[in-house]
Amino acid sequence: MSAAEPLVSVAGLSRVFDVSPPLVTRLLHRSPRRLLRAVDGVDFTIAPERTLGLVGESGCGKSTLARCVAGLMAPSAGEMRFQGKPMDLARRPDRAIRRSIQMVFQDPYASLNPRWRVETSVGDPLLAFGIARTRAQMREQVAALLTDVGLAPDDAAKYPHEFSGGQRQRIAIARALASRPAFLICDEPTSALGVSVQAALLNLMRRLQGEYGLTYLFISHNLAVVDHMADDVGVMYLGRIVEKQPKRHLFDAPRHPYTKLLVQTVPSLETLGRASAPLAGEVPSPVNPPPGCAFHPRCPHADARCRAERPAPVPLPGGGSVACHAVAEGRI
Ligand SMILES: Nc1ncnc2c1ncn2[C@@H]1O[C@H](COP(=O)(O)OP(=O)(O)OP(=O)(O)O)[C@@H](O)[C@H]1O
Ligand code: SF4
Ligand SMILES: [Mg+2]
Repeated sequence: MSAAEPLVSVAGLSRVFDVSPPLVTRLLHRSPRRLLRAVDGVDFTIAPERTLGLVGESGCGKSTLARCVAGLMAPSAGEMRFQGKPMDLARRPDRAIRRSIQMVFQDPYASLNPRWRVETSVGDPLLAFGIARTRAQMREQVAALLTDVGLAPDDAAKYPHEFSGGQRQRIAIARALASRPAFLICDEPTSALGVSVQAALLNLMRRLQGEYGLTYLFISHNLAVVDHMADDVGVMYLGRIVEKQPKRHLFDAPRHPYTKLLVQTVPSLETLGRASAPLAGEVPSPVNPPPGCAFHPRCPHADARCRAERPAPVPLPGGGSVACHAVAEGRI
């Protein structure tokens, strides 16, 4: 694989959930099937050792997208290539890919068994993938991983409940790193933590990216966190990426009206925990999204075309793309 080739590329990824009422209720009330488009035709690429940050409000499909890309959930449609090879997204990924793609969740207990000692949680992938051949090797490697994430080798003998939230997330990161992955999908890994703990963990993850040569898909509802971590930023709205740009361009010259609103209300890294000014209007339901551009009920630039026709992404001169009629028409 050449250096210029992306490590990960995703095209047309969608995930629909059937949220219909039970069949009997549907027949009695003659109600139709209800489909929820959580992720709706997402495209992106990530170059090796780079970070794509994805930002968007609650319910816009970030976790669903993360789970599909991690191979934990089958998408309804779409393609993905990893290290230049197509992946069969309908099946559980093979061993080599499971080893190379790891995920860090918001809740460390999603990957840590509370009844396992840290040594077992972190050592399990080492043994499962044959990275450690003996228990002595496993112990040595667990100690090195714990040190790398800022914990002590002696912590291996403890249970998860003996740690703080930030320390537990460090254990979850050590476990994710144990299989020597190339690609780490981080779904709001710090958003349950206090401000100073978040900042320390973000800095740790940046350092580990360099040391382990990791490529990140880094998801957060908080633009300040994404600013700290990402090279490129994608903005999601109701299951779609509405704008994607290199980070500096996105912050200095946001093009999509939704991105502009987000950038105006971005908290600083010091105020991560405090609520930022709320955006005007409610996020519409993905079960019954507005026709045309899904952002039109909240958009100050919406016109008749916006209400009828869904905008396709158009390339931007500095790299990236934006899906907005007003930008494409030169109105804004
Ligand atoms: N298993 C499921 N069955 C039905 N609907 C689901 C399921 N998982 C997610 N959804 C719905 O899909 C949409 C996207 O959810 P998702 O969790 O991916 O959003 P998110 O951006 O991660 O939100 P948050 O910021 O709150 O974590 C939401 O409307 C959610 O209710
Ligand atoms: S397409 Fe229209 S409604 Fe949608 S963001 Fe652009 S201007 Fe606003
Ligand atoms: Mg989520």
